[in-house]
Amino acid sequence: RTTELDSICLKAEVIPVITINRIEDAVPMGRALVEGGLSVLEVTLRTDCAIEAIARLKKELPHASIAAGTVLTPAQYRLVEQAGADFIVTPGATEALYRYGVESPVPMLPGVATISELMTGWQYGYRRFKFFPAEASGGVKALKAFAGPIGEARFCPTGGISLNNAADYLALPNVMCVGGSWLTPSSLVDAGDWDGIRLLAKEAADRFHH
Ligand code: 3PG
Repeated sequence: RTTELDSICLKAEVIPVITINRIEDAVPMGRALVEGGLSVLEVTLRTDCAIEAIARLKKELPHASIAAGTVLTPAQYRLVEQAGADFIVTPGATEALYRYGVESPVPMLPGVATISELMTGWQYGYRRFKFFPAEASGGVKALKAFAGPIGEARFCPTGGISLNNAADYLALPNVMCVGGSWLTPSSLVDAGDWDGIRLLAKEAADRFHH
């Protein structure tokens, strides 16, 4: 699991967290992000067309890695496995999700915000986590503190991250990549400005390339 997640997340300095309101936006938005240099995308299950969007992105952008985000239940996990998601991202984690994720062929990056949640995931064998909501949960300072008791854990922080603070997170040895919605602002998405999105992706990819 850890190896699979590492092989995906270590190639991603920045993971765009995207919410698809109109299914026809999914592929052009995904293509713009990938062309800009960001090839690991997280599609949140916050809209009705999210699962269809994941299936289309997998088909049309075979070289990108597509995560399903905002997965709250094992039932949703099952649906996005079937849609072809490469990995699963959760905002927090329940015992049911931890158990399901251990058995699933599709790896899970569980969300944690505290050391106790991290310890629960650790007991189930998880070593890679989303740190969410990063800025609201102590940000860089919290991640530095997590490295004391559980030094082997690695994180993808999201929540309140942008070009302004991404470098502070990426400088930490226990951060593998960062995620955020800043790459797909509604001002550009609603206008179908895929060139604008490609430029935002390129800016992030150029600045934070490993
Ligand atoms: C997520 O689910 O990771 C967040 O919604 C992303 O947070 P952001 O919108 O603050 O980037």
